[in-house]
Amino acid sequence: DHVPQQVSTGALPGWRDVERLVGDAHARFARDSDGIVADYIPVLAEVDPELFGLAVIEVGGGVHDAGDAQHPFSIQSISKMFVYALAIQEHGHERVREIVGVNNTGLPFNSVMALELNAGHPMNPMVNAGAIATTALMPGETSAEQWERVREGLSAFAGRALGLDGVVYASEARTNDRNRALGRLLTSYGRLEGDPDEVVDVYTRQCALAVTAHDLAVMGATLADGGVNPITGQRVVSAEVCRDTLAVVAASGLYERSGEWLFEIGLPAKSGVSGGIVAVAPGKGAVAGFSPRLDEAGNSVRSQRAIGYLSRALGLNLF
Ligand code: DON
Repeated sequence: DHVPQQVSTGALPGWRDVERLVGDAHARFARDSDGIVADYIPVLAEVDPELFGLAVIEVGGGVHDAGDAQHPFSIQSISKMFVYALAIQEHGHERVREIVGVNNTGLPFNSVMALELNAGHPMNPMVNAGAIATTALMPGETSAEQWERVREGLSAFAGRALGLDGVVYASEARTNDRNRALGRLLTSYGRLEGDPDEVVDVYTRQCALAVTAHDLAVMGATLADGGVNPITGQRVVSAEVCRDTLAVVAASGLYERSGEWLFEIGLPAKSGVSGGIVAVAPGKGAVAGFSPRLDEAGNSVRSQRAIGYLSRALGLNLF
Protein backbone atom coordinates (compact mmCIF):
# COMPACT_ATOMS: atom_id res chain seq x y z
CA ASP A 1 0.00 0.00 0.00
CA HIS A 2 1.06 3.48 -0.79
CA VAL A 3 3.00 5.66 1.62
CA PRO A 4 3.22 9.30 0.58
CA GLN A 5 6.76 10.25 -0.35
CA GLN A 6 7.99 13.12 1.81
CA VAL A 7 10.31 15.51 0.05
CA SER A 8 13.84 15.29 1.43
CA THR A 9 14.71 18.26 3.60
CA GLY A 10 17.77 19.11 5.64
CA ALA A 11 16.46 17.59 8.85
CA LEU A 12 14.60 14.66 10.31
CA PRO A 13 11.19 15.28 11.90
CA GLY A 14 11.14 15.78 15.67
CA TRP A 15 12.11 12.90 17.99
CA ARG A 16 8.51 12.06 18.87
CA ASP A 17 7.46 11.75 15.22
CA VAL A 18 10.44 9.54 14.38
CA GLU A 19 9.65 7.36 17.40
CA ARG A 20 6.03 6.97 16.30
CA LEU A 21 7.00 6.15 12.69
CA VAL A 22 9.50 3.47 13.76
CA GLY A 23 6.73 1.85 15.84
CA ASP A 24 4.33 2.15 12.88
CA ALA A 25 6.84 0.54 10.52
CA HIS A 26 7.26 -2.38 12.90
CA ALA A 27 3.51 -2.90 13.30
CA ARG A 28 2.84 -2.54 9.59
CA PHE A 29 5.21 -5.32 8.49
CA ALA A 30 5.16 -7.54 11.59
CA ARG A 31 2.89 -10.15 9.99
CA ASP A 32 4.66 -10.37 6.59
CA SER A 33 6.01 -13.87 6.04
CA ASP A 34 7.42 -13.66 2.50
CA GLY A 35 10.89 -15.00 1.77
CA ILE A 36 12.94 -17.89 3.12
CA VAL A 37 15.65 -18.15 5.77
CA ALA A 38 19.20 -18.73 4.42
CA ASP A 39 20.33 -22.32 4.81
CA TYR A 40 23.68 -22.55 3.00
CA ILE A 41 25.31 -21.77 6.35
CA PRO A 42 23.78 -24.65 8.36
CA VAL A 43 23.34 -22.86 11.69
CA LEU A 44 21.53 -19.88 10.11
CA ALA A 45 18.68 -22.22 9.11
CA GLU A 46 17.87 -22.76 12.80
CA VAL A 47 17.01 -19.12 13.57
CA ASP A 48 13.46 -18.09 14.57
CA PRO A 49 12.07 -16.61 11.31
CA GLU A 50 9.58 -14.45 13.23
CA LEU A 51 12.28 -12.24 14.78
CA PHE A 52 11.84 -8.65 13.61
CA GLY A 53 13.72 -5.62 14.91
CA LEU A 54 14.04 -2.04 13.71
CA ALA A 55 16.28 0.80 14.84
CA VAL A 56 16.87 4.39 13.81
CA ILE A 57 19.82 6.36 15.15
CA GLU A 58 20.00 10.07 14.41
CA VAL A 59 23.30 11.90 13.91
CA GLY A 60 22.25 14.10 16.83
CA GLY A 61 22.22 10.99 19.04
CA GLY A 62 18.46 10.25 19.00
CA VAL A 63 17.76 6.53 19.49
CA HIS A 64 14.62 4.67 18.36
CA ASP A 65 14.35 0.88 18.76
CA ALA A 66 11.31 -1.29 17.98
CA GLY A 67 10.62 -5.03 18.30
CA ASP A 68 13.68 -7.29 18.44
CA ALA A 69 16.17 -4.44 17.99
CA GLN A 70 18.37 -5.86 20.76
CA HIS A 71 18.37 -9.46 19.49
CA PRO A 72 21.92 -10.57 18.52
CA PHE A 73 22.68 -12.16 15.14
CA SER A 74 25.81 -12.53 12.99
CA ILE A 75 26.57 -9.40 10.95
CA GLN A 76 27.50 -11.40 7.80
CA SER A 77 27.94 -9.29 4.66
CA ILE A 78 27.15 -6.02 6.40
CA SER A 79 30.68 -6.28 7.84
CA LYS A 80 31.96 -5.69 4.29
CA MET A 81 31.01 -2.04 4.28
CA PHE A 82 32.74 -1.25 7.56
CA VAL A 83 35.89 -3.25 6.78
CA TYR A 84 36.00 -1.43 3.44
CA ALA A 85 35.85 1.92 5.26
CA LEU A 86 38.73 0.82 7.51
CA ALA A 87 40.75 -0.30 4.47
CA ILE A 88 40.34 3.08 2.73
CA GLN A 89 41.23 4.86 5.96
CA GLU A 90 44.43 2.79 6.02
CA HIS A 91 45.46 2.79 2.35
CA GLY A 92 43.60 5.69 0.70
CA HIS A 93 41.07 6.09 -2.08
CA GLU A 94 43.35 5.29 -5.08
CA ARG A 95 45.01 2.14 -3.84
CA VAL A 96 41.83 0.49 -2.65
CA ARG A 97 39.96 1.45 -5.80
CA GLU A 98 42.66 -0.14 -7.92
CA ILE A 99 42.80 -3.38 -5.95
CA VAL A 100 39.13 -3.92 -5.13
CA GLY A 101 37.15 -1.85 -7.67
CA VAL A 102 33.88 0.05 -7.40
CA ASN A 103 31.57 -1.37 -10.09
CA ASN A 104 28.60 -3.70 -9.67
CA THR A 105 29.08 -7.23 -11.03
CA GLY A 106 25.37 -7.73 -11.78
CA LEU A 107 25.86 -11.26 -10.48
CA PRO A 108 25.18 -13.00 -7.14
CA PHE A 109 27.37 -12.16 -4.14
CA ASN A 110 29.30 -15.42 -4.18
CA SER A 111 29.73 -15.68 -7.95
CA VAL A 112 32.88 -17.38 -9.23
CA MET A 113 31.93 -16.50 -12.79
CA ALA A 114 32.09 -12.77 -11.99
CA LEU A 115 35.77 -13.18 -11.11
CA GLU A 116 36.51 -15.21 -14.23
CA LEU A 117 34.74 -12.70 -16.46
CA ASN A 118 36.88 -9.86 -15.11
CA ALA A 119 40.40 -11.34 -15.29
CA GLY A 120 40.26 -12.15 -11.59
CA HIS A 121 39.44 -8.58 -10.57
CA PRO A 122 36.90 -8.65 -7.73
CA MET A 123 35.03 -5.58 -9.12
CA ASN A 124 33.69 -4.27 -5.81
CA PRO A 125 34.10 -4.82 -2.05
CA MET A 126 30.49 -5.86 -1.40
CA VAL A 127 30.65 -9.24 -3.16
CA ASN A 128 32.51 -12.05 -1.41
CA ALA A 129 35.60 -11.97 -3.67
CA GLY A 130 35.98 -8.20 -3.19
CA ALA A 131 35.39 -8.46 0.54
CA ILE A 132 38.08 -11.14 0.84
CA ALA A 133 40.49 -8.89 -1.12
CA THR A 134 39.53 -6.00 1.20
CA THR A 135 40.08 -7.99 4.39
CA ALA A 136 43.55 -8.88 3.06
CA LEU A 137 44.34 -5.13 3.19
CA MET A 138 43.82 -4.90 6.94
CA PRO A 139 47.07 -4.08 8.74
CA GLY A 140 48.79 -6.74 10.87
CA GLU A 141 51.78 -9.05 10.75
CA THR A 142 49.62 -12.13 11.23
CA SER A 143 46.04 -13.04 10.46
CA ALA A 144 45.33 -12.96 14.21
CA GLU A 145 46.42 -9.31 14.27
CA GLN A 146 44.34 -8.54 11.20
CA TRP A 147 41.31 -10.11 12.86
CA GLU A 148 41.89 -8.02 15.97
CA ARG A 149 42.02 -4.85 13.86
CA VAL A 150 38.75 -5.79 12.18
CA ARG A 151 37.09 -6.52 15.52
CA GLU A 152 38.36 -3.29 17.09
CA GLY A 153 37.38 -1.21 14.08
CA LEU A 154 33.84 -2.58 13.87
CA SER A 155 33.51 -2.18 17.64
CA ALA A 156 34.40 1.51 17.31
CA PHE A 157 31.66 1.89 14.68
CA ALA A 158 29.20 0.18 17.06
CA GLY A 159 30.38 2.02 20.17
CA ARG A 160 30.76 -1.21 22.15
CA ALA A 161 33.07 -4.24 22.13
CA LEU A 162 31.65 -6.70 19.59
CA GLY A 163 32.30 -10.42 20.04
CA LEU A 164 32.41 -13.45 17.79
CA ASP A 165 29.39 -15.76 17.56
CA GLY A 166 31.45 -18.93 17.86
CA VAL A 167 28.65 -21.23 16.73
CA VAL A 168 28.09 -19.30 13.47
CA TYR A 169 31.84 -19.08 12.89
CA ALA A 170 32.32 -22.83 13.37
CA SER A 171 29.34 -23.64 11.14
CA GLU A 172 30.56 -21.40 8.35
CA ALA A 173 34.23 -22.36 8.69
CA ARG A 174 33.20 -26.01 8.15
CA THR A 175 31.21 -25.27 5.01
CA ASN A 176 32.78 -22.28 3.24
CA ASP A 177 34.47 -24.15 0.40
CA ARG A 178 33.14 -21.62 -2.05
CA ASN A 179 34.82 -18.70 -0.29
CA ARG A 180 38.05 -20.68 -0.06
CA ALA A 181 37.75 -21.27 -3.81
CA LEU A 182 37.32 -17.52 -4.37
CA GLY A 183 40.40 -16.85 -2.21
CA ARG A 184 42.49 -19.34 -4.18
CA LEU A 185 41.24 -17.94 -7.47
CA LEU A 186 42.24 -14.41 -6.41
CA THR A 187 45.68 -15.78 -5.53
CA SER A 188 45.96 -17.53 -8.88
CA TYR A 189 45.34 -14.20 -10.62
CA GLY A 190 47.97 -12.51 -8.42
CA ARG A 191 45.33 -10.38 -6.77
CA LEU A 192 45.64 -11.46 -3.15
CA GLU A 193 48.55 -11.05 -0.76
CA GLY A 194 49.14 -13.60 1.95
CA ASP A 195 47.79 -17.10 2.49
CA PRO A 196 44.31 -17.24 0.94
CA ASP A 197 42.97 -19.69 3.53
CA GLU A 198 44.08 -17.39 6.35
CA VAL A 199 42.53 -14.33 4.72
CA VAL A 200 39.28 -16.26 4.20
CA ASP A 201 39.40 -17.28 7.85
CA VAL A 202 39.57 -13.62 8.96
CA TYR A 203 36.74 -12.83 6.53
CA THR A 204 34.68 -15.72 7.98
CA ARG A 205 35.26 -14.40 11.50
CA GLN A 206 34.28 -10.86 10.53
CA CYS A 207 30.98 -12.21 9.14
CA ALA A 208 30.33 -14.02 12.45
CA LEU A 209 30.62 -10.92 14.66
CA ALA A 210 27.44 -10.69 16.75
CA VAL A 211 25.47 -7.45 16.43
CA THR A 212 21.90 -6.23 16.93
CA ALA A 213 19.74 -4.02 14.69
CA HIS A 214 20.44 -1.25 17.21
CA ASP A 215 24.21 -1.76 16.73
CA LEU A 216 23.84 -1.68 12.95
CA ALA A 217 21.98 1.62 13.16
CA VAL A 218 24.75 3.11 15.34
CA MET A 219 27.38 1.80 12.89
CA GLY A 220 25.48 3.26 9.93
CA ALA A 221 24.87 6.53 11.74
CA THR A 222 28.65 6.84 12.20
CA LEU A 223 28.99 6.83 8.40
CA ALA A 224 26.05 9.30 8.17
CA ASP A 225 27.82 11.52 10.67
CA GLY A 226 31.01 11.92 8.61
CA GLY A 227 32.86 9.22 10.58
CA VAL A 228 32.05 10.30 14.15
CA ASN A 229 30.03 7.84 16.25
CA PRO A 230 27.01 9.91 17.36
CA ILE A 231 26.65 7.95 20.61
CA THR A 232 30.27 7.80 21.81
CA GLY A 233 31.56 10.94 20.06
CA GLN A 234 34.62 8.98 18.83
CA ARG A 235 35.98 9.68 15.34
CA VAL A 236 36.28 6.28 13.66
CA VAL A 237 37.11 7.24 10.02
CA SER A 238 37.38 10.48 8.03
CA ALA A 239 34.50 12.18 6.22
CA GLU A 240 36.17 11.36 2.86
CA VAL A 241 36.19 7.67 3.76
CA CYS A 242 32.45 7.84 4.53
CA ARG A 243 31.75 9.41 1.15
CA ASP A 244 33.77 6.76 -0.73
CA THR A 245 32.20 3.93 1.25
CA LEU A 246 28.62 5.10 0.79
CA ALA A 247 29.09 5.60 -2.96
CA VAL A 248 30.20 1.98 -3.35
CA VAL A 249 27.42 0.73 -1.05
CA ALA A 250 24.86 2.63 -3.14
CA ALA A 251 26.12 0.87 -6.28
CA SER A 252 26.48 -2.66 -4.88
CA GLY A 253 25.19 -2.99 -1.30
CA LEU A 254 22.13 -5.04 -2.28
CA TYR A 255 23.99 -6.97 -4.99
CA GLU A 256 22.10 -7.34 -8.27
CA ARG A 257 19.12 -5.53 -6.67
CA SER A 258 21.12 -2.36 -5.94
CA GLY A 259 19.74 -0.36 -8.87
CA GLU A 260 16.15 -1.23 -8.04
CA TRP A 261 16.69 -0.28 -4.41
CA LEU A 262 18.31 3.05 -5.27
CA PHE A 263 15.49 3.79 -7.71
CA GLU A 264 12.72 3.01 -5.21
CA ILE A 265 14.28 3.97 -1.87
CA GLY A 266 17.15 6.31 -2.75
CA LEU A 267 19.64 5.43 0.02
CA PRO A 268 22.86 3.42 0.21
CA ALA A 269 22.09 0.18 2.06
CA LYS A 270 23.95 -3.02 2.91
CA SER A 271 22.42 -6.41 3.61
CA GLY A 272 23.58 -9.68 5.12
CA VAL A 273 22.25 -13.26 4.81
CA SER A 274 21.34 -13.46 8.48
CA GLY A 275 18.60 -10.88 7.77
CA GLY A 276 20.11 -7.52 8.67
CA ILE A 277 20.04 -4.42 6.47
CA VAL A 278 21.32 -0.96 7.30
CA ALA A 279 20.52 2.12 5.19
CA VAL A 280 22.44 5.36 5.63
CA ALA A 281 21.05 8.87 5.18
CA PRO A 282 24.12 11.16 5.10
CA GLY A 283 23.87 14.03 7.57
CA LYS A 284 20.71 12.56 9.12
CA GLY A 285 21.20 9.07 10.51
CA ALA A 286 20.74 5.39 9.76
CA VAL A 287 17.86 2.92 9.67
CA ALA A 288 18.50 -0.76 10.40
CA GLY A 289 16.27 -3.81 10.19
CA PHE A 290 16.63 -7.44 11.21
CA SER A 291 14.31 -10.16 9.94
CA PRO A 292 15.66 -13.53 8.75
CA ARG A 293 13.45 -14.30 5.73
CA LEU A 294 15.24 -13.32 2.49
CA ASP A 295 14.45 -12.73 -1.18
CA GLU A 296 16.31 -14.60 -3.96
CA ALA A 297 19.19 -12.10 -3.97
CA GLY A 298 19.79 -12.77 -0.24
CA ASN A 299 18.23 -9.56 1.12
CA SER A 300 15.81 -9.53 4.10
CA VAL A 301 12.26 -9.02 2.84
CA ARG A 302 10.75 -7.32 5.90
CA SER A 303 13.86 -5.21 6.51
CA GLN A 304 13.65 -3.90 2.95
CA ARG A 305 9.95 -3.12 3.32
CA ALA A 306 10.27 -1.43 6.72
CA ILE A 307 13.34 0.60 5.72
CA GLY A 308 11.59 1.63 2.51
CA TYR A 309 8.57 2.75 4.50
CA LEU A 310 10.73 4.75 6.89
CA SER A 311 12.78 6.27 4.08
CA ARG A 312 9.56 7.56 2.53
CA ALA A 313 7.92 8.67 5.75
CA LEU A 314 11.06 10.42 7.02
CA GLY A 315 11.92 11.99 3.65
CA LEU A 316 15.33 10.31 3.45
CA ASN A 317 15.55 9.68 -0.34
CA LEU A 318 18.74 11.38 -1.52
CA PHE A 319 17.35 12.32 -4.89
O1 DON B 1 30.55 -15.35 2.88
C1 DON B 1 29.34 -15.58 2.98
O2 DON B 1 28.72 -16.19 2.13
C2 DON B 1 28.65 -15.07 4.21
N1 DON B 1 29.55 -15.06 5.32
C3 DON B 1 28.12 -13.70 4.00
C4 DON B 1 27.22 -13.57 2.80
C5 DON B 1 26.17 -12.55 2.93
O3 DON B 1 25.82 -12.07 4.00
C6 DON B 1 25.47 -12.20 1.69
N2 DON B 1 24.36 -11.36 1.95
N3 DON B 1 23.32 -11.08 1.69
